[in-house]
Amino acid sequence: MAEMQIKVADIQQLTTGIKKFEFEAVDGGELPEWQPGAHLIFVLDAHLHNSYSLSGDPTERGKYVTAVLREENGAGGSKHMHDKVSVGDVLTVQGPNNNFPLAEDAKSHLLIAGGIGITPMLAMGRHLKASGANVHLHYCTKSPEETAYMDEVKAVFGDDLTFHHDGGDPANGIKLGDVLKTPADGAHLYICGPGGLLNAAREAASHWPDGSVHFELFASAKAPGEAPAAAPDGDHEFEIELKVTGKTFTVPTDKTIMEVLWDNDVEVMYACEEGWCGNCKTGLLGGAVDHRDEYLDDAERENHIQVCISRAAPGETKLILDI
Ligand code: FES
Repeated sequence: MAEMQIKVADIQQLTTGIKKFEFEAVDGGELPEWQPGAHLIFVLDAHLHNSYSLSGDPTERGKYVTAVLREENGAGGSKHMHDKVSVGDVLTVQGPNNNFPLAEDAKSHLLIAGGIGITPMLAMGRHLKASGANVHLHYCTKSPEETAYMDEVKAVFGDDLTFHHDGGDPANGIKLGDVLKTPADGAHLYICGPGGLLNAAREAASHWPDGSVHFELFASAKAPGEAPAAAPDGDHEFEIELKVTGKTFTVPTDKTIMEVLWDNDVEVMYACEEGWCGNCKTGLLGGAVDHRDEYLDDAERENHIQVCISRAAPGETKLILDI
């Protein structure tokens, strides 16, 4: 993936655990354009790549803005951003890429953000409000003090905003069953936040029309090259055929498809290696898949696979990939 360098222009502490970073082009010029939902992958060192969503105004070409939650138990990327990055530093990034785009043909947009998951939602809100779209944001945090971008969110969304402060107990938080009970005609739902909220919201919206629910998980990235999680019982060896190059490789039980592709010098985009960032999305031309990702929706699973984590379904001997 193409890389570029950007310079840290400003850093602000938004809450005790969240810092906002502003970046500008090293030459002070315009930065590559992006759409709401997009993220940058920060190449912090050879073994630490972290994705952070852009929260600024997509029409403002002079700067990128993001916010980073300091994760004590993460792979170290967020701690690096919090503790080692200063104004004036030049960082290497990949992107912007967008795995969480708005559905421009939606009649209305319902946004649910949990904690630091507000970052892409803020950019979405700026765009949707500027274009006169029908939008409402539910913003879930522990308390007003731990709510990043409080004033900015209010300014962007105005009355189309509901805060849910749960005091640390999700039982006191957003009532997803009520909020998602009846999808409005043509509505699309966007969810961004930690896994617990994401899974609960997806379950509460399981009756929404196919293709109308979009989500992005915010979780600790791990360092590329770390050992994959132990294979669940029953994983079996299978083949992958690369339709474009005509090559066939064997995926053993102790390797992912992505690792086999890397071993054979096939380039694959990646960030999380855990099935949630979307970067390794690959076209699927044949074979039954055991989808283990958090990223693809049901329609996309017909002809795509996240090669960092998903495998051939039990009994399947070969997957045909569109690479
Ligand atoms: S690398 Fe993130 S989904 Fe595969």
